[in-house]
Amino acid sequence: MNNKTEIVEELKKAMEFYQELGFKYLPVKIEQKFIILEARKRGSAEVEKRESENGRGMTSELPDFRTSALKSLRDEIGDCQRCKLCKNRKNIVFGEGQAEAKIMFIGEGPGRDEDIQARPFVGEAGKLLTSLIIKLGLKREEVYIANIVKCRPPNNREPEEDEIIMCRPFVERQIEIIKPKVIVSLGKVATHALLKVKTPISKIRGNFFDYRGIPLMPTFHPAYLLRNKKDKWLTWDDMQKVLEKLKN
Ligand code: URA
Repeated sequence: MNNKTEIVEELKKAMEFYQELGFKYLPVKIEQKFIILEARKRGSAEVEKRESENGRGMTSELPDFRTSALKSLRDEIGDCQRCKLCKNRKNIVFGEGQAEAKIMFIGEGPGRDEDIQARPFVGEAGKLLTSLIIKLGLKREEVYIANIVKCRPPNNREPEEDEIIMCRPFVERQIEIIKPKVIVSLGKVATHALLKVKTPISKIRGNFFDYRGIPLMPTFHPAYLLRNKKDKWLTWDDMQKVLEKLKN
């Protein structure tokens, strides 16, 4: 292949990739793209090494890619009126953290504090989650935290089936963009919504499941752990398995 054909092929692949993610335009600076192509043309060992190390393909060379894709997704959600949760919410809680995160924590839906602050897991359950993350030797900013539904269900009730069905595609897209190495689903609602099973969390937790090629570890929801402190060690055990998986 001559250089021109190679470049066209690379661009075609990149555009198809972005298209699958819902993009209508390329969210990278054109110079950046050429730097990558140039590096690849030279057979840059560094590029190849990094790609094989993180298994994320060419997007690993586009540091802003995931951030732009997440921003685009947030824009697409807009002032969402897709389900009845929009009536009582103060804010949409999109999710936060490192767009390149290796671990993604997924909860059920915002509570009162999250609704006010427009940030996930900032109330009492959030403090417990944050302290767990720190005890694992990570920083909260290093992981990504999201929920199945992005708006607070009234009186902190569980999200209903129709609300989950409307909102789940957004968390699915967040996962697709971030491509974490491990997902931790917090509690029954998140686990059932992602794995499409109905097994009680007490039976399913502690084992890895496959979510579209990504290992997913279900564990107890931090709000449950606040009420059942004796079960904290079980979540600790589950998280040790997650750390082990990351090492591999
Ligand atoms: N519980 C959740 O499931 N998510 C939050 O963001 C806060 C509490």
